[in-house]
Amino acid sequence: MKASLYLISLIALAGCSTQQPAKDGTLTLKDALGKHEILAGVAVNVDEVAGRVPKAQDVITANFSSIVAENCMKQEKIVPEQDKYFFDDADSLVAFGERNGMKVIGHCLVWHSQAAPWFFTDAKGGEVSRDTLISRMKNHISTVVGRYKGRIYGWDVVNEAIEDDGSYRQTPYYKIIGPEYIEIALKAAEEADPDAELYLNDFSMSKPGKRDKYVELVKDLKLKGCRIDAIGMQSHNGGDYPDLSEYEKSMDTFAACGVKVMMTELDLNILPKPEDFGGGANVGDEFKYRDELDPYKDGLDEQAQKLFDDRYLAFFKIYEKHKEQISRITLWGVSDKTSWLNDWPVEGRTSYPLLFDRDYNAKPVVQKIIELF
Ligand code: G3I
Repeated sequence: MKASLYLISLIALAGCSTQQPAKDGTLTLKDALGKHEILAGVAVNVDEVAGRVPKAQDVITANFSSIVAENCMKQEKIVPEQDKYFFDDADSLVAFGERNGMKVIGHCLVWHSQAAPWFFTDAKGGEVSRDTLISRMKNHISTVVGRYKGRIYGWDVVNEAIEDDGSYRQTPYYKIIGPEYIEIALKAAEEADPDAELYLNDFSMSKPGKRDKYVELVKDLKLKGCRIDAIGMQSHNGGDYPDLSEYEKSMDTFAACGVKVMMTELDLNILPKPEDFGGGANVGDEFKYRDELDPYKDGLDEQAQKLFDDRYLAFFKIYEKHKEQISRITLWGVSDKTSWLNDWPVEGRTSYPLLFDRDYNAKPVVQKIIELF
């Protein structure tokens, strides 16, 4: 009995030879998820990539098999003025990923938010024409995707195109070009790098209206000859949202359309919610700071810590159950210290949404996630 178990273990180890434990023998997140061919991803910032944050690079390379730029590939950063590209930060990030054998994800090509200020405006300051916007969008995609051809594993091609109720978000792309902008963007990205994976990415993907619209979109875009490799469920989660069964349902429903599912921006905000806060991740949502919305300035209390651990485990149990459908799970940041959730939707709070604390130490729940997988 023992001998056969030993044999099975050996066979299992041989089968995952690309995922070796860390040098000291301990398994990390990327080993555990890698066993199931799931990339363990993380969003990184410019300071981390440049080595200006003590410990960050070691934590990133030891625990993750994929990186994505939290900000430096966004349009406003890459091309702040017409025809004036700034690629230094993005180049460094891609090189960092390559040096460390990580899959680099590109984020993002078409997004109404953080668009370059000139992008939707003509020379006279009026709204750009449809033809011009199509041409600018295609040019942006071919320039950026083309620059990293063969080096970026997959692109968030269109980000946050749909509202929670399933209607098209009224972005300048939609209003000026019409819904075809998504098809045009996907085709331009595929043309610029036929080997890169292509994704549609959005938050609040457990909302039924949004889910149904993405299903309709995927089917329709495929009929029009577009390739979509995966749907990105951003997964900016909270202590009591999303509803877990709706979240699972979205995973099943997207997978049934013949695409992979990815958790592309996972984090967990357990701070008190301002009244009228509807969840999601609309960058523009803002609520006034009040002391009672910021109760853990010196650390989580026992109850909050338990909520954090239980909730993270609940999500990872779902991921384990659906592991065949998932190709990547990306955390939206390495350490609590730099998470966007310290400033959103209320500026200046102390938030604890990620898997590594403010000193870049793994939280206890990380080991539990590893054991789960
Ligand atoms: O870099 C400047 C700095 O020079 C300046 O002093 C400072 C003052 O506000 O701002 C800094 O830029 C900020 C940048 O993050 C870097 O920290 C921007 O104001 C701020 O708007 C920006 O926020 C980012 C946000 O997207 C908007 O681009 C967050 O870091 C980033 O986590 C967030 O990520 C988005 C995904 O791309 C799409 N899905 C939702 C997700 C969360 O909003």
